[in-house]
Amino acid sequence: MTAYDAAFARCAEQAGIDILLVGDSVGTVVLGYDSTVPVTLDDMIHHTAAVARGAKHAHIIGDMPFGSYQTSDSEAVRSASRLIQEGRASSVKLEGGARAADRIQAIVGAGIPVMGHIGVLPQTAGLGPGFRLRTNRERLLDDARAVQDAGAYAVVLEVVAPEIAAEITAAVKIPTIGIGSGPSCDGQVLVLYDMLGLYEDPPSFVKQYADFGTQTVRALTQFASDVASRKYPAS
Ligand code: KIV
Repeated sequence: MTAYDAAFARCAEQAGIDILLVGDSVGTVVLGYDSTVPVTLDDMIHHTAAVARGAKHAHIIGDMPFGSYQTSDSEAVRSASRLIQEGRASSVKLEGGARAADRIQAIVGAGIPVMGHIGVLPQTAGLGPGFRLRTNRERLLDDARAVQDAGAYAVVLEVVAPEIAAEITAAVKIPTIGIGSGPSCDGQVLVLYDMLGLYEDPPSFVKQYADFGTQTVRALTQFASDVASRKYPAS
């Protein structure tokens, strides 16, 4: 599950969730940006450290934001090291298949475990088919193998056609973690605020397990009304 702060990290751990992804989705769901592109490495370190303070046992993955690993292997290693050292992440994640293989290899070579991420790549969605279902079988299989061969310990498959996600899961030795990619992946991840129902219009594959949006508005309306009518606080 994704998490962005200490409070929800604690809740996720109490629910038995053992891997927390501090995704750069923090940019859209928490910080109010309309994409993940403006999220900085300092933003990610800030939120990763908050999750680390709230979680006692979970494996915490710090997402590498746009601009923190694209320029060179050494930049990628430096950014990943900051997520580990300052953000107290257990591992890092970065977007890209075959084209990101060198970066993955460099970071793993520096002793930092890396999760890959293929299929829909939100940081560069503007360049290609956006957030549409990925169906290019050969390319997706090549990407998954490239990420595995570069040393990644797992790979996220985002909005990959379910039959191709199943094929990738069978073809690679590392665990596949699906989001919008059907039931055959080894694990699943969702954006926390989407599954809690904080947004009215989540992606179609999201199952909303709660309606926090409505409940929050209801609670706040009650508070405002109680204060205005002097029902709260009691003497
Ligand atoms: O940023 C994020 O939350 C992610 C998940 C959607 C996999 O990358």
